[in-house]
Amino acid sequence: MEVKIREVGPRDGLQNEKEIVSTEAKIEWINQLVNTGLPYIELTSFVHAKWIPALADASEVVKGVKRSPHVTFGALVPNEYGLERALEAGIDEVAVFLSTSETHNQKNINKTIDKTLPVIKNVVTQAKAAKKTVRGYVSTVFGCPYEGTVNVDKVLSISTALMEMGVDEISLGDTIGIATPNQIENTIRKVATYIPLSRIALHPHDTSGTALANVYAAYKLGVRAFDGSVGGLGGCPYAKGASGNVATEDMIYMFNGMNIDTQVDLEKMTECAVWIQKKLKRPLPSHRLQVALAE
Ligand code: HMG
Ligand code: MG
Repeated sequence: MEVKIREVGPRDGLQNEKEIVSTEAKIEWINQLVNTGLPYIELTSFVHAKWIPALADASEVVKGVKRSPHVTFGALVPNEYGLERALEAGIDEVAVFLSTSETHNQKNINKTIDKTLPVIKNVVTQAKAAKKTVRGYVSTVFGCPYEGTVNVDKVLSISTALMEMGVDEISLGDTIGIATPNQIENTIRKVATYIPLSRIALHPHDTSGTALANVYAAYKLGVRAFDGSVGGLGGCPYAKGASGNVATEDMIYMFNGMNIDTQVDLEKMTECAVWIQKKLKRPLPSHRLQVALAE
């Protein structure tokens, strides 16, 4: 595998959907995703159900999905209580998260950045003691819906703080999908002077239609891990106007065409997009999905 695709649809995708997908349907859909060859699936979030009602069934989903030695199952964990719930459910990998901008962090997790960092440090230490790998999401890296431009030094200080805590990989989030390839290049170049490229992932949202171009720019720089969402589902409920992640199947189509191995089956992945589109009863933005439906 030359490029690692991290599927975040069941988490980032469903967290913002109006139509609540039943637990049974989520499990059936995730089992289909397991059969596509994906190496990682982010199943859900162990956050407060009042904040993210669509993922209130986190434990049942994690316990209900079919296990495979080829797939790592991850989940979002905001604090110690979330970790307790995630470990009890049997998650393989823990994903911690915070923003580079105060207002988004406050709205998303109800704390200042300074107060969030020790909470995350505690989660990372305990997750490591439980022999789990940990990824750290850094949000609003390329711009904040409330504060606008984000200083790249802030991105750097938060990313290095996470690495010093023991996080295995950081995922740079274009939370509101506003980045362009030159910005991706400048930011990643700067972050990569302190953090090896092998430990940096890109998490593009496609609000402005630049996500795939951003993936290509990051690939050219040497990034080899990309977050995508089947069908192009997704968005952050605490970032108004943020639309879905880059569609996983569109990314795979691009990498296939470039002879870059992802180990993910494009046809099976597109079938998973068709399946969830029917459940959600709204057209999803994925290009390959629309091609498949037109055939
Ligand atoms: P809070 O209200 O400040 O929490 O929420 P608290 O510590 O004051 O506790 C209040 C109550 O919440 C207590 O219950 C706790 O037990 C309970 P009570 O005593 O009142 O009955 N509680 C919990 N319950 C379940 N699970 C937990 C948990 N923790 C406390 N883990 C909290 C703080 C972090 C919980 C809340 O703000 C929250 O759940 N936020 C989640 C927001 C979220 O999921 N946002 C979307 C994901 S981030 C994203 O999409 C960006 C990303 O994709 C990258 C990118 O695109 O940039 C990752
Ligand atoms: Mg996201």
